[in-house]
Amino acid sequence: MNYTDTKISIQEAEKILFEQYNIKGTAHPLPGYEDYNFRIKVDNEDGYVLKISRQNVNKNAISFLRDILLYLEKNSEDLITPKIIADTKGDYISEVLDNDKNRRSVRLLTWISGRVWHEVNPRLNNLHFSLGETSGKITKTLQGFHHESIESDFDWDIAHSLWTKKHIHLFPKEEQEIVNYFQNRFENELSTYTRLRKSIVHNDVNDYNILVSDNLINPKVKAVIDYGDAMQTQIINDVGICCAYAIMGQNDSLEPALQIVSGYHSVFPLQEEELDHLYTIIAMRLIVSYTSALINLKKEPKNTYLQVSAKPASKALKKWFNISSDFAHYSFRVACGYTAHPDTEKFNRWASTYQFKVTELFPTAPSDEFHHIDLSVSSKWIGHQENFNDLDLFQFKIDRLQAEYPNKVLAGGYLEPRPIYTSTAYDKIGNNGSESRTIHLGIDFWFHANTPVHALFDGEVVTACNDAGDKEYGGLVILKHHLEDFEFYTLYGHNTVESATKHQIGDLIKKGEKIAELGNYPENGNWAPHLHFQVMMSMLDYEVDFPGVTYFKQLNVWKGLCPDPNLLFKSEALKNSNNITNDELIAYRKQHLGKSLNLQYKTPIKMVRGAGVYLMDQYAQKYLDTVNNVAHVGHEHFSVVKAGQEQMALINTNSRYLHDNINKLAKELIETLPPELNVLHFVNSGSEANELAIRMAKAYSGEKDIIASEVGYHGNTNMCVDISSYKFDGKGGQGAPEHTHIFPIPNAFRGKYRGENTADKYAEEVKQCIANIQSKGRNVAAFIIEPIISCGGQVELPQGFLPKAYKLIQEAGGICISDEVQTGCGRMGKTFWGFQLHNVVPDIVTIGKPLGNGHPVAAVACTKEVAEKFANGMEYFNTFGGNPVSCAIATEVLCVVKREKLQENAYEVGEFLKEELKKLSKEFPVIGDVRGQGLFLGIELVDNNLNPLAKQTDYLANRMKDHGILMSVDGPDYNVLKIKPPIVFNMENAKELLFYLKKILSEDFMTSTI
Ligand SMILES: Cc1ncc(COP(=O)(O)O)c(C=O)c1O
Repeated sequence: MNYTDTKISIQEAEKILFEQYNIKGTAHPLPGYEDYNFRIKVDNEDGYVLKISRQNVNKNAISFLRDILLYLEKNSEDLITPKIIADTKGDYISEVLDNDKNRRSVRLLTWISGRVWHEVNPRLNNLHFSLGETSGKITKTLQGFHHESIESDFDWDIAHSLWTKKHIHLFPKEEQEIVNYFQNRFENELSTYTRLRKSIVHNDVNDYNILVSDNLINPKVKAVIDYGDAMQTQIINDVGICCAYAIMGQNDSLEPALQIVSGYHSVFPLQEEELDHLYTIIAMRLIVSYTSALINLKKEPKNTYLQVSAKPASKALKKWFNISSDFAHYSFRVACGYTAHPDTEKFNRWASTYQFKVTELFPTAPSDEFHHIDLSVSSKWIGHQENFNDLDLFQFKIDRLQAEYPNKVLAGGYLEPRPIYTSTAYDKIGNNGSESRTIHLGIDFWFHANTPVHALFDGEVVTACNDAGDKEYGGLVILKHHLEDFEFYTLYGHNTVESATKHQIGDLIKKGEKIAELGNYPENGNWAPHLHFQVMMSMLDYEVDFPGVTYFKQLNVWKGLCPDPNLLFKSEALKNSNNITNDELIAYRKQHLGKSLNLQYKTPIKMVRGAGVYLMDQYAQKYLDTVNNVAHVGHEHFSVVKAGQEQMALINTNSRYLHDNINKLAKELIETLPPELNVLHFVNSGSEANELAIRMAKAYSGEKDIIASEVGYHGNTNMCVDISSYKFDGKGGQGAPEHTHIFPIPNAFRGKYRGENTADKYAEEVKQCIANIQSKGRNVAAFIIEPIISCGGQVELPQGFLPKAYKLIQEAGGICISDEVQTGCGRMGKTFWGFQLHNVVPDIVTIGKPLGNGHPVAAVACTKEVAEKFANGMEYFNTFGGNPVSCAIATEVLCVVKREKLQENAYEVGEFLKEELKKLSKEFPVIGDVRGQGLFLGIELVDNNLNPLAKQTDYLANRMKDHGILMSVDGPDYNVLKIKPPIVFNMENAKELLFYLKKILSEDFMTSTI
């Protein structure tokens, strides 16, 4: 009789449930390998799983399963495990006869609610750690469990995994080599492996056996179910199984595995010998799963499920193979709190007993004293990227420094986070976006080309080659040093090719002998001449290009593998100075800076460098900046920086003296504006610009009343706050002052009037404001609005609204102010200024943020008439406004916009982005609206009823930050993501942004909304 013939029907299952357990419930079949499983639903309870065996079942196995669950229930303190329920006779295993008179064993287990691991998205580090912890707890609890009828399922016991060898022909040809490699590795390690600790372990912590809590932001593993594969085997197998499933589908497989190992070890300490085998064990579990899938596929070649299920194991295996086994091993050790390399302590002890001199390494060095050179990301000495990439300039600076310290050796760099590795060879895509190698692992010694390098101790040549290429080592020598009970390596990079390659592998070099001579650029990898000197405890799998720089994330492993070379020299000058921690910075701010000065993000970031569309934190980790419209032409644009530096070196004084710069800037700005707007006043901030604009409007009209939009923001001064509904209607605000008149935000998506053709209705609201002012016997002084309301949530004004509103205001004798502090200077793409999108000419335009690319310079442009009326005899003096430095900077910003065609870029990239975001909104209905112009866009998140989704917006912004992408949230309901990057933001940046937006929008917290 085959399997399907003996199937149990739903009705039969429900009958068994009632007869054996006196429980009335509804049964729903579940997939099962050994048993027929039914999910039993009972009113108001989590319910049960009814497990009905096949005929001829192995009784021992069933009693083992009963006993392990009873044991866990009794002995675990904080583990959630399925509880086994006794039948009406008090038995945990019931015997029944099915409709065909077959004898069956029946068990009833409690149902544990939760999300199945397989369906959880994202599975982050915390969750992997929690998986490790839970699995560790199970193993810890099972330490006291023994059973006389314990059996090992040969196929699924990694200890027996070499059975897969006879199926090697089933694997695709190109994978056989990998499978063979791991099988041989396992076979070779058997003698130590078989001696590892054994215990009863769960042995099948796979994606479908793990239940995760319902918390969608910070979920934890709630329970591991299905003890059907529990067996007595090497404990490390259990860890390996957890890891094998968790690494599938990850870009960086090691990262989740390390979290699991760390979590496991925190509850059930793993031994160093066990970790020696973990890399191979993970691979062997993948091979076992993969082989089983291939065997089944052979039986049912058309089964698409089987075809699909083999793929993740295949991919994971290939990725695992590409990870250095030693690196994985050392990473596991660090995850468990051991030293990265088993011999690290021996090296440290040995190094502590010797005092090496730098004159032994460089006999031509001026002395044994050092002067530390700081090449870190925040180093002012290296300065701008354009500067440090100019090798002649770099060498000039080195020479100057050497002249300043003629008796010292210029050196430094161990574990320094550096910004100088700008080649893409230093980047990779990790599990959370792109990662760059920035942490320097050796010490650099800055000497001229041809300086001889000598051996500090005896060594054997293991590498002597030309590691050619930009930002590589050039002439490279690596020596291996054999000591009594350990070995280590030293690396000498950036030599002349000739001096490095004259060695043969295996050559012995005696202490004091010459190793090589320093090379010059480009042959030394294209650097200013220096020696990169590094100590390594292992060569890992590298033969040539051993990394001299690594990822911040892997710092703890690498610093164990590559000890500080200063352990040899013991120089105080080379010791890493202790930087102030972020916590210390926060604590000081809290104490001494105004409390209303907010910090961005749950975990604030310290930014120390900008470059184009990127910002870098103190670890030189890059963030793609989609927020900062202040760095208009790119962070620290070189020609803008230079313009400021050069002018600052000459003179900076106030505008009462004649100077070309103020006129030049005025001219540049006037060229971009309509002819009517041809008088300028220079100030220092957007607030100051608006403050002055309102003063002008008051002077022009002789009135005080201002009309502004709901949720508008115009600055932080008294007057500006008085006209900013965003502030006075927000937290801590006290409502509109007497002379401020607010009309509803002209938001056609979720405003007072929605949909098409709302311009007239919103203009009518402005008309009512005017009437209201006039009804008090006063008149309107000014109407102020942004062309796209930024703080209001990137709200575009309905077409036709602005001409109508301007007409009403001007007819009433008021002034129209276009606040272009956010929108101006080419960002709109189609037009240089925002008001030009609406075919209007304001009386005053205020300009701020983008004008100085980060430098505080702002301006007010107005008509002759307005300027004339303002100049009523009272002098307008501004200490800083219009100074030569600010004007030089602002002029250069405007020139860069033209020269680099950045308005065109804003148009092209902005249109692409908007189009793609609209496509995304079809796929993800949480995106209610996509709007804006050029590189000034907004994405509004709402539910089906247009209710704002502030938490989701916050989640999205924070998760994007986790992926190295900075986004800001705004709008009165905090549900609009703003995109307003430096306008050098290019197509590639846009695609990256879209890719990660899509990734995060697919995460459970985002998809659970609608
Ligand atoms: C539209 C608008 N106007 C004026 C200001 C004030 O500019 P600042 O912060 O330079 O004083 C801001 C600042 O965010 C703004 O967004």
